[in-house]
Amino acid sequence: MSTFTAPKGTYDLLPGTNSAEFLAVRDQLSAPLRRAGYGYIETPVFEDIKLFSRGVGESTDIVTKEMYTLTTKGGDELGLRPEGTASVVRAALQANLHKQGNLPVKLWYSGNFYRYERAQKGRYRQFSQIGAEAIGAEDPALDAELMILADDAFKALGLRNYKLLVNSLGDRQCRPVYRAALVDFLSGLDLDEETRRRAEINPLRVLDDKRESVQAQLTDAPMLRDYLCEDCKSYDEQVRALLTAAGVAYEQDPKLVRGLDYYTRTTFEFVHFGLGAQSAIGGGGRYDGLSEMLGGPALPSVGWGLGVDRTYLALEAEGVTLDLPVTTEVYAVALGEEAKAVLFGKVTELRRAGIATDLAFGVKSIKNAMKSADRSGARFALVAGDRDLAEGVVQLKDMTSGEQSPVALEALVTTLKEKQL
Ligand code: HAM
Repeated sequence: MSTFTAPKGTYDLLPGTNSAEFLAVRDQLSAPLRRAGYGYIETPVFEDIKLFSRGVGESTDIVTKEMYTLTTKGGDELGLRPEGTASVVRAALQANLHKQGNLPVKLWYSGNFYRYERAQKGRYRQFSQIGAEAIGAEDPALDAELMILADDAFKALGLRNYKLLVNSLGDRQCRPVYRAALVDFLSGLDLDEETRRRAEINPLRVLDDKRESVQAQLTDAPMLRDYLCEDCKSYDEQVRALLTAAGVAYEQDPKLVRGLDYYTRTTFEFVHFGLGAQSAIGGGGRYDGLSEMLGGPALPSVGWGLGVDRTYLALEAEGVTLDLPVTTEVYAVALGEEAKAVLFGKVTELRRAGIATDLAFGVKSIKNAMKSADRSGARFALVAGDRDLAEGVVQLKDMTSGEQSPVALEALVTTLKEKQL
């Protein structure tokens, strides 16, 4: 019988390969948020399909082409979440979080997201994000705060080889004027049928087209920057001044559009130089109209999503190794049944005392068991045979120096504690 493999565009996280690193990356990416007043939120991995079509956008690839959809036996039309912002705003509105205290409501999340994309390195069909959303405040300091926290997280992990791109997409006042000018410009270009259709639904997305043939025609395209109203211009300047004051380097990128429809004003992306085509390690922006699109009150908001998979690849590309917590500090090897019973009790005692301890199961030879002790990375091995037990001791072996000495069974926990485990 043939065996199974993980579905295309997905992969397993495994101990000894990448799972400990992923936990550490998630922990580090979220640490700055936890220090900045963001509360943890979890929402379901599936939602009413309309939440995403209305929230993320009917014209986005993410919703029209890439969403995993299903109809339940009860007839509900659900979609696996392609991103987190729409769900988080839905949950905040449902629970009236915006009415319970001062705004903004600051939330962070960690989870898997699903997009039926062409799978390749760095682009997966299930991927992991750490996300942050600050709901209900229009304040340049909030946009700056989020970018600073993301930058701090990447830096704390040890990443250096990336840049932050910033743009403003304007608001309800100035964007329509720009949109009209862009539509007019695009109508004079030689575009294929699909791109023409996209130009009608969301002309700004055409600016994001990666193809040379399209980019070559866009050199004289009108730029949103030149159409920003005074309010948007001043907002953008304030955000950037705050970044500069915080020592966060950025580049302005007038072509940064992003693939989701809810953005207004500030948009940004962190781009890593070592990742080839899938270079965005994080991105986000302001979405002042999303709450209203979902039937809620006006709640201007801003947020980001950082890609855990890509951050891991970026660390690999930069040759950064993470300081991982020790998994096993002590490894016990019992020789014989009686020794096993006594040592098993000691292992439980050590674990209850907070010392990470493992035990060799099914020992066939001391040589093999000592190999397992070595592989576990433990600093100490405990070896006990029936003769040691008769003397009331176990042999404590320092795995680095190879030194071995007997320790009285009763003194074992305190002895190991003294060694600062
Ligand atoms: P996004 O730019 O679509 O934004 O995704 C954020 C990050 O998730 C990307 O920069 C990338 O690192 C990672 N990512 C996206 N798709 C994939 C994929 N197929 N494989 C691997 N990694 C991927 C959002 O999702 C918005 N919800 C961010 C946001 C929050 N905006 C406002 N608030």
